[in-house]
Amino acid sequence: MKKLNMIYEGKAKQLYTCEREDALIIHYKDDATAFNGAKKAQIEHKGMLNNAISTIIFKEMARAGIPTHYLETLNDRDQLCKKVHIIPLEVIVRNVIAGGMSKRLNIPEGTPSPKPIYELCYKNDELGDPLINEDHALALGVVSESELITIKTLTLQINEVLKKLFDQVGILLVDFKIEFGKTPDGKIVLADEISPDTCRFWDKETMMKLDKDRFRRDLGKVEDAYQEILRRLELIKTV
Ligand code: TMP
Repeated sequence: MKKLNMIYEGKAKQLYTCEREDALIIHYKDDATAFNGAKKAQIEHKGMLNNAISTIIFKEMARAGIPTHYLETLNDRDQLCKKVHIIPLEVIVRNVIAGGMSKRLNIPEGTPSPKPIYELCYKNDELGDPLINEDHALALGVVSESELITIKTLTLQINEVLKKLFDQVGILLVDFKIEFGKTPDGKIVLADEISPDTCRFWDKETMMKLDKDRFRRDLGKVEDAYQEILRRLELIKTV
């Protein structure tokens, strides 16, 4: 399957049409941004690493019965995915307090949460992706009440699948952000990517950060951290 026309370019990926009407090719770039695009860099091999990591995770989701947009990995940087309408919500789950929530509520980073915290942000760069609740999402008209129930149910299931997957390889799933899409027949599916760009992963023994916070906070060894996540997932991917 070949890439035809680029129809969208985001911060970390490009979207291309292909010969299949019902599918798109997602191309993973090495570009990294933080703070709504204010900080920019290239992370060598990031596109390849996130494509490989996201592939393993989406296959694991399918095994667990989670509907996703993923169809096939075409090469080092390209994935074939179902064409969906992306719902403009960033859906976040936090198992351990870190990052934005730690700052907002002055809770020390690393504090475990008594239960998974479910958050929604309105995906809108001009507004800086503001934190919203389910009523705000309804008022924005981006989702229906029954779709919100589906999204929350799937998200909490995805958290369990991800926590278990990473726990097996000594990694604490601190938090993550996912996005959902709607197929032409109205089905809600997990879309976008799941990678160290969109999750916080800490080594369970050393608490070393193995995700994009290494870039956001200038901690160095960004590529090494992404390589380490892939190396650990490779240990279990065929089991
Ligand atoms: P936060 O603590 O900065 O709100 O981030 C929560 C999670 O969401 C974390 O795993 C990183 C991820 N995330 C994204 O994927 N994209 C973003 O633009 C932001 C701000 C966070």
